[in-house]
Amino acid sequence: MGQITLKSVRKSFGDVHVIPGVDLEIRDGEFVVFVGPSGCGKSTLLRLIAGLEDTTAGQILIDGKDATDLPPARRGLAMVFQSYALYPHMTVRKNIAFPLKMAGLSEAEQAKKVEAAAKVLNLTAYLDRRPGQLSGGQRQRVAIGRAIVREPAAFLFDEPLSNLDAALRVTMRQEISELHQALKTTMIYVTHDQVEAMTMADKIVVLNAGRIEQVGSPLDLYHFPDNLFVAGFIGSPKMNLIEGAEAARHNARTIGIRPEHIGVGSGPWEGTVQLSEHLGSDSFVKVQVDGIGVLNVRAGGEIGVHHGDRIRLNPEPDKIHRFDADGKAIR
Ligand SMILES: Nc1ncnc2c1ncn2[C@@H]1O[C@H](COP(=O)(O)OP(=O)(O)OP(=O)(O)O)[C@@H](O)[C@H]1O
Ligand SMILES: [Mg+2]
Repeated sequence: MGQITLKSVRKSFGDVHVIPGVDLEIRDGEFVVFVGPSGCGKSTLLRLIAGLEDTTAGQILIDGKDATDLPPARRGLAMVFQSYALYPHMTVRKNIAFPLKMAGLSEAEQAKKVEAAAKVLNLTAYLDRRPGQLSGGQRQRVAIGRAIVREPAAFLFDEPLSNLDAALRVTMRQEISELHQALKTTMIYVTHDQVEAMTMADKIVVLNAGRIEQVGSPLDLYHFPDNLFVAGFIGSPKMNLIEGAEAARHNARTIGIRPEHIGVGSGPWEGTVQLSEHLGSDSFVKVQVDGIGVLNVRAGGEIGVHHGDRIRLNPEPDKIHRFDADGKAIR
């Protein structure tokens, strides 16, 4: 089981209120991603759940039991860090077995669990190597292996892929998603990368200055952002935000339209192309639109527009998001 409940959890360091108050329900087996800009409190919240930091106020329940004052070792959770500290002088086998050895399991039990974990993680062929003889991705898998053998109620990941190069991040991202499908254990995953959040999560928690801005499935947040912060944070390239007369026409302070929801060729807006990036699969076009400002447009790969061209743009009417003066969505 791995159900985790946060009730009015607060954390201050001295008089700095890092987490002013968080309520959150994480269901057993869920893949939950904490996402938000640097310094918003993602790691702090994860460390509170792990028990590596004391809560200033509030309650943390694990499977319905109050765990607020339990030491980390008694919470039954396993944390995988960004900088995976493997023992360099030990083989992969010994690194993965380490927590089992500390827990006093027999050699035979250790071997059985290590081999099962290695199989899930495709590490069987590397069990007798040392960490120095592995790639970054393989080392990260060893660190995950060391967490798996403990059979935790939940895995807590703090930016586990941020030391890896772009291609390896994509591969590891998929491997962690597949691991979740195989183990069906609760996972809480911290990242500032909204693409990781969108692709991995069952449920995304968007944090801003220690507060939850919105909780929902990736597509919920994409289609129905509750406020300007979430609208600007989720989606890549970012949603265009427009104020002034154009917004007033929609009875809003601000309107938002995603780059992929603006058609090129005809339509009510006209502007001058400032920049056109052709990626083959897509084109990213930056347009100075008359009376509105600069908009980013995501068009097809074959679109032939260039710097200085005058073009017309067509926002899809039912894809326009409206926000009030407080930045809250108007629905
Ligand atoms: N021990 C501490 N004492 C004082 N302030 C702290 C301490 N630990 C963290 N903070 C502050 O709490 C805030 C949240 O930090 P946290 O590490 O949780 O952010 P984060 O969202 O994980 O950021 P990043 O994406 O950069 O890792 C930051 O402003 C940080 O400076
Ligand atoms: Mg952090």
